[in-house]
Amino acid sequence: TWTMANVVDETVAAVRQQVGGKRVICGLSGGVDSAVAAALVQKAVGAQLTCVYVDHGLMRQGESEQVERDYVAATGVDLHVVEAADRFLTQLKGVEDPEEKRKIIGREFIRVFEAAARDIVAAAGEDGVEPVEFLVQGTLYPDVVESGGGEGTANIKSHHNVGGLPDDLQFTLIEPLRTLFKDEVRAVGEELGLPPEMVWRQPFPGPGLAIRIVGAVDADRLAILRRADAIARAELTAAGLDRDVWQFPVVLLADVRSVGVQGDGRTYGHPIVLRPVSSEDAMTADWSRLPYDVIERISTRITNEVREVNRVVLDVTSKPPGTIEWE
Ligand code: XMP
Repeated sequence: TWTMANVVDETVAAVRQQVGGKRVICGLSGGVDSAVAAALVQKAVGAQLTCVYVDHGLMRQGESEQVERDYVAATGVDLHVVEAADRFLTQLKGVEDPEEKRKIIGREFIRVFEAAARDIVAAAGEDGVEPVEFLVQGTLYPDVVESGGGEGTANIKSHHNVGGLPDDLQFTLIEPLRTLFKDEVRAVGEELGLPPEMVWRQPFPGPGLAIRIVGAVDADRLAILRRADAIARAELTAAGLDRDVWQFPVVLLADVRSVGVQGDGRTYGHPIVLRPVSSEDAMTADWSRLPYDVIERISTRITNEVREVNRVVLDVTSKPPGTIEWE
């Protein structure tokens, strides 16, 4: 019979066979797919795997800790963390165009990742261990179908991996999830004992909060958005609704100001947009009819707790015509 335990066993055996005694690296994004792919490979080849997490400084509150602390605690995986926030923010300075942001982030990500891979190879070489031969990718079945791929296709939707992988990739790909759908990946993640916050995490774009700040990205703006986003997510979770909502982008309109009144005086602050959506596959989406009391709590808390924000608005556009993200 086809159970998650069988899927795990068969995948682990196949990966072990493919890898042999060689070394493997895997990039972790904080998302479900890379987390489950890495955990499967780790179960197969243990210490031959090194995971790489590039902290680009565009993650939400608590997400880096989830990878660096909780994931390591749950799996015991060998994790190589690269703190690259300064580098990404420097490159993004003054950039307002959404596609330009994506290009910069994709390019920097690959540079940082490749340098990390070289460091790992160098470190392994000194120990007389094999150099890295394999790279794990969290490609799912729908990705395989969408990229028109049959056996051996290493074609990854650029959308899915910040900027995609370079053509002259030096590694052989391992794709342990390529027969699975998202719900099956989550089931495998549970089977492997990964933290539920990670297994049930809503999709989050590779370029992170950079494409949820309409306008140029800087550390101050990121801090504002991070606080507003954390409140929205906490209230959604407290209401027991986070699994009903496909995704809940929280967007900072950084170049817009409106007049408000807070405390004793007039303010001239920024709006925050709430964009909760329901969807099956992100191709189309509808705006989520969240209960008014939940929206009210989020609005009240954000305007009370985030000084720079004096207005909270709700996006009631379906996709199409709106996309899920604002950029
Ligand atoms: P849109 O905004 O096009 O988003 O309706 C559809 C889905 O894709 C995610 N998204 C991205 N994911 N890199 C990613 O890894 C990106 O550049 C990117 N842009 C959008 C979005 O969050 C939604 O799930």
